[in-house]
Amino acid sequence: MKEFLTQEFNKLFNKNPENTYFSPGRVNLIGEHIDYNGGLVMPCAITFGTYLLASPNSDGIFRFRSLNFDDKLDIPVQEEYTKTEEYWFNYPLGVIEYFLKDGHPVLGMDMLFYGDIPISSGLSSSASIEVVTAFALNDMLNAGYSKLDLVKLAKSVENNFIGVSCGIMDQFAVAFGEKNKALMLNCDTLDYKAVDSNLGEYILAIINTNKPRKLAESKYNERVEECQAALKALQQELSISHLCDIDTGTFNKHSHLITDPVVYKRAKHVVEENDRVKLAAAALSNNNLDELGRLMYASHDSLRDLYEVSGAELDTIAEYCKTDADVVGGRMTGAGFGGCAIALVKESAFDKFSNNIIEYYTQKIGYAPSVYSSLIGNGVGVL
Ligand code: GLA
Repeated sequence: MKEFLTQEFNKLFNKNPENTYFSPGRVNLIGEHIDYNGGLVMPCAITFGTYLLASPNSDGIFRFRSLNFDDKLDIPVQEEYTKTEEYWFNYPLGVIEYFLKDGHPVLGMDMLFYGDIPISSGLSSSASIEVVTAFALNDMLNAGYSKLDLVKLAKSVENNFIGVSCGIMDQFAVAFGEKNKALMLNCDTLDYKAVDSNLGEYILAIINTNKPRKLAESKYNERVEECQAALKALQQELSISHLCDIDTGTFNKHSHLITDPVVYKRAKHVVEENDRVKLAAAALSNNNLDELGRLMYASHDSLRDLYEVSGAELDTIAEYCKTDADVVGGRMTGAGFGGCAIALVKESAFDKFSNNIIEYYTQKIGYAPSVYSSLIGNGVGVL
């Protein structure tokens, strides 16, 4: 891959790249819509991701090229940048803007991006491109940021430059992911542990609904606001800073404070999902995959009924998983509204699973999903 990309860089810029970087995408095993509520999540980096080949130039121009999109941008080094419509290069542009805001001078640079994360699939292609750009600039400009600083910077780009009120899970996972490990991340303190994702005779399958994610950003921001409303209501009696500061028992005692039934459902999902992550962590470390699978299904049902971010496509996948004796658990992963689901599937039965779920889904939904057997890989780095 590196050789091929280097040739492409050469064709575009008539020189070799100075460096090549890679940042993965991510899946989340459990703990959905939890990060912006200060709770626990369990993401893994995957082996799909974004490659960035880069070389400084003396022309004082940023040249952004992609092998995935025809749109390109040449823009001089200037004091500040703003988002240009919905183009892919807003992500690297946003990162540069944040380096400048922090007082780091930048140089013109030729940059070629290539991503093999299926587009709009909910596997965090945006966090991947943000983090790979931030990592590369930090490296080439000797800006002196720590990896955690880069994660926070990338999240600010997504929140303020792109306009999605996301939490920190995706940027954190793609930066700190480790091969064959899941990250147990506390999104309030940012303490984390990389735990062995020992799945025994099972492997992690990723099933892409191939449903274009429309309205995802506005619905996502709406959920964030609903959680803020729930927190405000609970703060009348509880001195808490996040919804995940309480467990289900405490929530039940005080939930009468939330008068809006929709806001109540959102908060109930968050509090119960956070409790499920704690149980899932114990199940994973005891190699109790049946329990982990049960929690994954419960998480999906809650995202469908209480948080209302699933949909016919993701539900069809979860529904199929429950009928297949070779599958121990499954759920939507990421923000929802389309995107991907994950399932724990017996390795020896993966091909059968893949054929059957494609048939079942196609019959119900009218087009085929894509099925991958995922490898849990490392976070951002130099290639
Ligand atoms: C998206 C966001 C994350 C997280 C998930 C839902 O991936 O970027 O911050 O909120 O949705 O768990």
